[in-house]
Amino acid sequence: MALKFNYSYADIVSENDIENINAKAVEAIKTLDNKSGEGSDFLGWTTLPEDYDKEEFERIKKSAEYIKNNADVLIVIGIGGSYLGARAVIEALKSSNYNILAKDTPQIFFIGNSISPTSLNEIVSLCENKDICVNVISKSGTTTEPAIAFRVFRELVNSKYPGEEAAKRIFCTTDKAKGTLKGLADKEGYETFVVPDDVGGRYSVLTAVGLLPIAVAGIDIDKLMQGARNAMQAYKSYDINKNDCLKYAAVRNILYNKGKKLECFVSFEPSMAMFNEWLKQLFGESEGKDGKGLFPVSCVFSTDLHSLGQYIQESGAPLMFESVVSFKEPQSEFIIDEQEGNIDGLNFLAGEKMSTVNDKARLGTLLAHTDGGVQNLIIEADKIDEENIGNLIYFFEKVCAVSGYILDVNPFNQPGVESYKKNMFALLGKPGYENEKENLEKRLGL
Ligand code: PA5
Repeated sequence: MALKFNYSYADIVSENDIENINAKAVEAIKTLDNKSGEGSDFLGWTTLPEDYDKEEFERIKKSAEYIKNNADVLIVIGIGGSYLGARAVIEALKSSNYNILAKDTPQIFFIGNSISPTSLNEIVSLCENKDICVNVISKSGTTTEPAIAFRVFRELVNSKYPGEEAAKRIFCTTDKAKGTLKGLADKEGYETFVVPDDVGGRYSVLTAVGLLPIAVAGIDIDKLMQGARNAMQAYKSYDINKNDCLKYAAVRNILYNKGKKLECFVSFEPSMAMFNEWLKQLFGESEGKDGKGLFPVSCVFSTDLHSLGQYIQESGAPLMFESVVSFKEPQSEFIIDEQEGNIDGLNFLAGEKMSTVNDKARLGTLLAHTDGGVQNLIIEADKIDEENIGNLIYFFEKVCAVSGYILDVNPFNQPGVESYKKNMFALLGKPGYENEKENLEKRLGL
């Protein structure tokens, strides 16, 4: 069940480097444990797998059952940390084609994660003649993208169902006391779930933020939490040789200090593509500040070996390293048949498991990319199931927090996200932004 971290294919990382960073890494994990670092008001996620609100957890399951029994479609409205975790887990554990394959559970469409009218219209049209429920998720309760989408879908639910039934079909996940969304939910009598004060958006997948949509998809959220609990127990040690979480955080910082600017999260399973997106937000928003931080990118191989493979192989080394999340067993197997005549020349693979071919591609890529100087880190799990995904979520959250403290940044804030919002509000003429408007329009030649 435990994850394995292997950095033996990062040959520029020496034992000496590990020794040199050890004190800083241990100080970082202690800072996290002692709650003595910057952002320590946001450490609720560290104990969440044990301390979660059990009453709310049962309510999540009950609401998921209600949604399963009463809706063909669940609309999940949210952006950033209020969106990526749920989608990542659903796609990893069910499929990227979940909405086509779903038989006993509702289709789940995510909206409010952009401001595209085309996306909005598309999801509205997908709800035609369907029974729907809505889960709107916003910790602040004021974010523009989900607020616009919720206005549209609230109207849609209200037009489809009579008063009381409409209210029963809307589920709000937000702050326990403040924000526009909380006010609206209280006024309309919607079922509400809480994003705890001490859990930031990108660390919130194991709260109601992720758990309600995940449970609606028919995923066992008890097992998911069990996996996170296993990780919570497994990655406590202050001995870098006994704690892979600490070691991975140290190694990626060593690579950063040796000039690598990008960390490429790699999977050989397409269903992990959204998990990579979750990782990109987690690391990008946590570490990228004060002019520092690895830029997180991602690839799904072998797909992207036919688009980005050339660049990685021959020009990647000075810029990047790869962190490959691999699984020993596939979710399902396919045996390649023998064909008479061998016209396609593939009979050398007859009787072979497709997972073996995928694994040889992984190993071949590992050797090719390391030959090209691209350092490789490997995080290995047994298989993609609830417990391993729960384990990986907690593992990466802790790696990210410890890494941030090694880097001397606050891994729990995101001040830079405000800049585009201020400009957008000024350009739209939102009251209170009048002074900036003229200046911005001049710069844009408007
Ligand atoms: O990690 C974060 O805090 C952010 O990505 C938020 O999740 C995102 O900005 C959405 O915010 P909110 O949930 O307040 O709507």
